[in-house]
Amino acid sequence: MKVHVDAERCQGHTLCAMIAPEVFELSDIDGHSSAITEDVPAELEQKVIEAVNSCPEGAISVS
Ligand code: F3S
Repeated sequence: MKVHVDAERCQGHTLCAMIAPEVFELSDIDGHSSAITEDVPAELEQKVIEAVNSCPEGAISVS
């Protein structure tokens, strides 16, 4: 699984980083999220899916 955060859509709600801190990090500058790694380890896929479903902006996508 690959994950991507749309920087235009992210509004810094932080839920993704609370759910899966292993995958998402928040910028110290603007508080927006980015993926630490685009390749999601199998054991973190469920957390990433939860983050996708939790983001109010729909900013996270997986493929
Ligand atoms: Fe941004 Fe959504 Fe996470 S708005 S900080 S990608 S929960």
